[in-house]
Amino acid sequence: MKKQSKVIILLRMIKLVKPLTGFMIMAVFFGTMGFLAAEFIPILGGFAVINALGGNTCFSLKTIFILLPILAILRAVFRLSEQRTNHYIAFTLLAIIRDKVFKALRKLCPAKLEGKDKGDLISLITSDVELLEVFYAHTISPICIAIVTELLMCVFIGYFHPLLGVVAMAAYLSVGVLLPIIISKRSGTMGDDLRAKSGELSAHMLENIRGIDDTMQYSYGNVRLYEITEKTNELSKKQGLLSRLTGTNMALANTMILISDIVMLAVCALLYQNGKVGFDGFLIPLIALMSSFGPVTVLAALGTTLQSTVASGARVLAVIDEVPVTEDIAGKEETDFTGAKVQNVSFSYGNTDSETKIESNQSEVLKNVSLDVNKNKIIGIVGKSGCGKSTLLKLLMRFWKVNEGEINISNKNIEEINTDNLREIESYMTQETILFKDTIANNIRIGKLDATDEEVIEACRKASVHDFIMTLPNGYETEVGELGSTLSGGERQRIGLARAFLHDAPFILLDEPTSNLDSLNEAVVLKSLKESAKEKTILLVSHRQSTMRIADEVIAMDGGRVS
Ligand SMILES: Nc1ncnc2c1ncn2[C@@H]1O[C@H](COP(=O)(O)OP(=O)(O)O)[C@@H](O)[C@H]1O
Ligand SMILES: [Mg+2]
Repeated sequence: MKKQSKVIILLRMIKLVKPLTGFMIMAVFFGTMGFLAAEFIPILGGFAVINALGGNTCFSLKTIFILLPILAILRAVFRLSEQRTNHYIAFTLLAIIRDKVFKALRKLCPAKLEGKDKGDLISLITSDVELLEVFYAHTISPICIAIVTELLMCVFIGYFHPLLGVVAMAAYLSVGVLLPIIISKRSGTMGDDLRAKSGELSAHMLENIRGIDDTMQYSYGNVRLYEITEKTNELSKKQGLLSRLTGTNMALANTMILISDIVMLAVCALLYQNGKVGFDGFLIPLIALMSSFGPVTVLAALGTTLQSTVASGARVLAVIDEVPVTEDIAGKEETDFTGAKVQNVSFSYGNTDSETKIESNQSEVLKNVSLDVNKNKIIGIVGKSGCGKSTLLKLLMRFWKVNEGEINISNKNIEEINTDNLREIESYMTQETILFKDTIANNIRIGKLDATDEEVIEACRKASVHDFIMTLPNGYETEVGELGSTLSGGERQRIGLARAFLHDAPFILLDEPTSNLDSLNEAVVLKSLKESAKEKTILLVSHRQSTMRIADEVIAMDGGRVS
């Protein structure tokens, strides 16, 4: 992640508001008018007092009593309109930002999602984006509203005497600018720490739920319970600290306001004594200042959240900026499949930080690997677990880029083939079939969205899963639980195979497709594969000798080399 200065992050976040500038101006207008309406209620009261004492003002008592309820109603209407506009802006922007994040993730997959920071990504998509609501609904426009409102108040107060305007300006600046800076310094990363701790706790709880079987089996419960208590205690300690800090911040703000009021009182009295202002010039500016700290106290409260908002913004922007390991390719000539060739390929996962381009010296997974995949043949790859079989398939899918050597499909460098084209040519069955929360039929149709029922059934027969599906209560329309957890490993795997059969691509890459199958089902699947090979080319990774029976050629991989 590139480190950007906070100011740049803030500016970039603000720039995102551009399409909604009109709404932002409306929100600032409503907010300013709302505050002014509220502030002028006590100010008019001041005028009423002057009137009652026999002084002369520009308002008659009657006008004042008509104006007061109107101002009260306007206050409510403007405040509501401001809140609505602000939240409209915020949620529209969140939708835009989510869209950007998902687009970025689509480009970054699958390499990015293989990494260790999956949990982080989830919290980015959910809570970080969510937290930006605070920024767009409760930060930008309040700042603008405070500036406009308090400038107008300075002018109003300064109208009685310029010096009073200056005093008011100093008061607003100290509460609205100086105080947030002090508070933000004092709270430091506390908001962030709190979020990190609560993220840890929820990740831990999720793990507890997922791992309940293992926890019970090995009587690991007490340890996990102890960890929950630890994490909860840490969290509540942080929460306690933060709320105490918020309390002292409030006290600080109120003290500053009080001091400002006293200074104003002193200056007003001084000017009145010296005949520089009349009685109205003594009373009204004082009331005006006392009643007009609303907009700036909102800013003072921002001091505690701003740090974490910026941190969230930085994380979201970093994902949007991240350069994928492999960019999608488009605009090249379309290609049919005529065979694949792996030539002297070396590969290590290394450091994928595309900004620094620094390759960490992670050990090479593949060393100088070469192999030919001729059309309409079944090539088997065997090798110890961890020797790089799956990695080779991922390179053939161009999920990652080779470090050295090259991969050719149909005599073309894989880097020269349109990504969509490549996906049509290749059908890839991963080691772990993921099922979506949907019907079995729809889960299989992922392989070919417009497949007819007959095609789906045919694919399932080939994958030896049709009979099983027919025993289910609703057959093909049976709903699969989330992540297919209601099905056994072997059933899931055969559904994955059905998907691959349905996809009907000329080049099929299968990663351990029979690892969870009993020999009966394996035999059916292998027979189907063998038949498919009349018109298809299959690259078959497996550690099972029985599966390798159907291969035309078996290649052994060992420590990243083929032999
Ligand atoms: N996304 C990844 N990032 C870093 N290392 C990885 C990644 N995926 C796999 N590896 C490592 O690469 C090696 C080869 O993995 P893999 O190709 O899955 O082996 P096989 O399929 O032969 O069991 C292993 O040591 C594994 O830990
Ligand atoms: Mg593997």
